Amino acid sequence: MKIAFFDTKPYDKPSFEKFGGVSGVEFKYFETKLNEDTVDLAGGFDGVCVFVNDTVNAAVIDRLNEMGISIVALRCAGFNNVDLKHAKGRVRLLRVPAYSPYAVAEHTMAMLLTSIRRIHKAYIRTRDFNFSLSGMTGFDLHGKTVGVIGTGRIGRVFIDICRGFGMRVLAYDKYRAEGLDNGDTVRYVELDELFRKSDIISLHCPLTEETYHIIDGASLEKCKRGVVILNTSRGALVDAEALLTGIKSRKVGAACLDVYEEESEFFFEDFSGHILEDDTLARLISMPNVIVSSHQAFLTEEALENIAETTVKNIVDIVKNGKCDNEILID
Ligand code: NAI
Repeated sequence: MKIAFFDTKPYDKPSFEKFGGVSGVEFKYFETKLNEDTVDLAGGFDGVCVFVNDTVNAAVIDRLNEMGISIVALRCAGFNNVDLKHAKGRVRLLRVPAYSPYAVAEHTMAMLLTSIRRIHKAYIRTRDFNFSLSGMTGFDLHGKTVGVIGTGRIGRVFIDICRGFGMRVLAYDKYRAEGLDNGDTVRYVELDELFRKSDIISLHCPLTEETYHIIDGASLEKCKRGVVILNTSRGALVDAEALLTGIKSRKVGAACLDVYEEESEFFFEDFSGHILEDDTLARLISMPNVIVSSHQAFLTEEALENIAETTVKNIVDIVKNGKCDNEILID
């Protein structure tokens, strides 16, 4: 089996070579992202392997079909970059539903602690032998209320971590997880209450039509002054312009973003030495109380191994058995 692998980064290859090698799946690695302009590179292959910022729209799907390709293996959990309606009946979509919820949840807490304890500032100051503490006052997490939107695999691990810090959790999910609400330190509430009572809000739901801009001007209006916004899920869950306005007005105390609405233009690439064209992203990064990482929450050794192992198994299952437990079934 020959698979065209798009948006390749050096850290992808070792684990895919390892699991592909023992399963008879041969990968050809392309650095470019998959889109209408690059799809022809997949000619002659049995399928494509894509990541979060590759484009699987109608035009790409049609061209894949014209080249006889019907396997799209996503090496990620989310699939908001796929035109699902158009994909139905045309391509088999495989994904990696869970590779390490710990990787993402731990990164979320790392960003929160870095932000509120000013670790990013301390790192730069002490390297310059500046040992002043001015402007470094943080706050305790113990006793604070964290609102968690999305209580799936990652959300629940993050809730466990927060409970370890002695925080109270207000949770919201369209489909509530059984046994999570203990009526005390973890309570399911409606979104309105979550916005009004949370000191910190963390997003762990998928990007859908319903969750698009779940954090916008109207929801921020309901929040406490000084609320901390954490987004390690998908960029478009947050209206970046509204967030920027909230930060300027001091309504938002801090923001930690591993994802950004327009990230596909920039994330995973080196733009140092260039003039960043996105004014909103540049302005957000310039804020002392905003921390941005470039969609790296998943990036642990454990997660990379799990991603490669599951993706290879998905491809083998669908080619050899015609079915795969991790196929995205479209209604
Ligand atoms: P999951 O599927 O286990 O959990 C998602 C939860 O969101 C479910 O409980 C679901 O019921 C809930 N949900 C669905 N629609 C909702 C709505 N309208 N309102 C509120 N909740 C809703 O997914 P998992 O593994 O926990 O991942 C969560 C998200 O994290 C993914 O969708 C993905 O976007 C993001 N992610 C980010 C990564 C990164 O590197 N930054 C890596 C992996 C995932």
